[in-house]
Amino acid sequence: MALRFEASCPNGLCPGWSVILKGETPAAANKFEINFLCEHDDRIAFHFNPRFTESDIICNSYMANHWGQEERCSNFPFGVEEPFQIEIYSDNDHFHVYIDETKVMQYKHRVEELKTITKVQVVNDVNISSIEITKKPYF
Ligand code: GAL
Repeated sequence: MALRFEASCPNGLCPGWSVILKGETPAAANKFEINFLCEHDDRIAFHFNPRFTESDIICNSYMANHWGQEERCSNFPFGVEEPFQIEIYSDNDHFHVYIDETKVMQYKHRVEELKTITKVQVVNDVNISSIEITKKPYF
């Protein structure tokens, strides 16, 4: 696993924080991940995983030492070596995902105690040009 970025927010990222990643994938891209983690245990509240080999975005959570049921999004707007923007933010019910400002999916929260989701990381085949983490004004 190649860690590209990691930030923690002790008071929690959900609900209300928006993470905007701008970047592009390198020529030999296989997959990358954006993970929202509970840093005090090993849960992954939201694993967002574009896979170039499958042209699918795989979303899942890792809880109680195993992966749950995958939610796949076959809307796959990523091109190799093409710039993109991904925004992920959560309200009380879902993570909402926008790619290039178009909504591609939402993912219902599986971790119930949202305040325990305190870390975001970006992993593997992506060249990051910027990451912006901002709080939505209405939360
Ligand atoms: C597994 C993979 C994990 C994660 C998971 C999601 O096959 O090894 O990295 O992507 O699928 O369901």
